[in-house]
Amino acid sequence: MFPELPDLLTHYRTVRSDSIALAAPLSAEDQAVQSMPDASPTKWHLAHTSWFFESLVLVPWVPDYRRFRPGFDYLFNSYYEQLGPRQPRPQRGLLSRPAQAEVLAYRDHVDQAMARLLQATAASGAVGELQRMVTLGIHHEQQHQELMLTDILHAFAANPLRPAYRPLASPAATMALAAGPLAPAAAAPGAAPVRWLRQPGGIRAIGHEGAGFAFDNEGPRHEVLLQPYRIADRLVSCADYLAFIADGGYRRPALWHADGWALARQHDWQAPLYWLPPGAVVLERAEPLEQWHGFGLHGLQPLDPAAPVMHLSWYEAAAFAEWAGARLPTEFEWEAATQDPGLQQVTGSAWQWTRSSYDPYPGFLPFAGPAAEYNGKFMVGQLVLRGGSLATPAGHTRPSYRNFFPPGARWQFAGLRLARDESHE
Ligand SMILES: [Fe+2]
Repeated sequence: MFPELPDLLTHYRTVRSDSIALAAPLSAEDQAVQSMPDASPTKWHLAHTSWFFESLVLVPWVPDYRRFRPGFDYLFNSYYEQLGPRQPRPQRGLLSRPAQAEVLAYRDHVDQAMARLLQATAASGAVGELQRMVTLGIHHEQQHQELMLTDILHAFAANPLRPAYRPLASPAATMALAAGPLAPAAAAPGAAPVRWLRQPGGIRAIGHEGAGFAFDNEGPRHEVLLQPYRIADRLVSCADYLAFIADGGYRRPALWHADGWALARQHDWQAPLYWLPPGAVVLERAEPLEQWHGFGLHGLQPLDPAAPVMHLSWYEAAAFAEWAGARLPTEFEWEAATQDPGLQQVTGSAWQWTRSSYDPYPGFLPFAGPAAEYNGKFMVGQLVLRGGSLATPAGHTRPSYRNFFPPGARWQFAGLRLARDESHE
């Protein structure tokens, strides 16, 4: 069941304040930066999530609703053709105006209108489609919370000072490590040998089921035939990936898909995005680095060998799997394996690339109205990731949850888990 409306307002307020808390360590200057066309400024994320509620909830449901400022529907529409023209995505970083304070005032304006709407609706007893759209907006905002962290990490990595979003020694970091986004996996399974969990295959039901919220791309639930396979109990670790690098993984075209090899050569990939090798000279250190380092939300840190490798493109994940004598699981194998109690690091560590292209399930039915553009129109040329990362809001994902990115994307918190065909035993 969807939450009753008073609970929905509580949920709304909690998630909205979570966004503000995530932005809190950032200066107004930090929040305005766009480091590449695919990444957006924090300030834009904060405004766009408000635009979503304004355009898909308040305008349709509140007859006398007044938009906060003329032009904001142009600035903060992301990709909804039905809702009009918009600021080109690569030029979001040019929006020095509205100022940070005005974006926060925009959020307050929307929050107050949402509270009035939800309280009035609760009093009248009218629910249904409104409740579904508000719930979608809440989950949409959580997706942008992860993108805020993903995008600011990319911006900070491009800054020679390499600022830390949350320095490890700070009290805020301690709080973050205790709960919520940035919480690490409890154990360090990457230090242990991989256990190959045997999966029988057969006809398996895949996709979301039940009354709880799910995105349209998670359904309908349907049957898929799986051959017997094995799946690794843990994610590929940094130590595993270092062995791939040391064995010439980035110099052996036989391990790579053609498109991936061309991209790796074009951009001179030698390691995951944000990794620095021994000998690298960095601005803030007097001496060259003596060991491999990784740049993350806690700044530049020595690589933790047991931690899952992240910030890989699909091409790198597939090349690693080839080198390891394995392959990526399909998204269906991944979902079926979540029933196995031995599967570790399912969520909260790193998104896991799968072999599956992002396609509609049989009988796919998009959300109604403008939200029909939410997922369906991206179902070409992208690969599915499953699980959830250390930057994913707690409780946001499900076993049926489908994330997706083009195969060359490297700035996400994305790693991999290996699978093998049973027939290759
Ligand atoms: Fe969005």
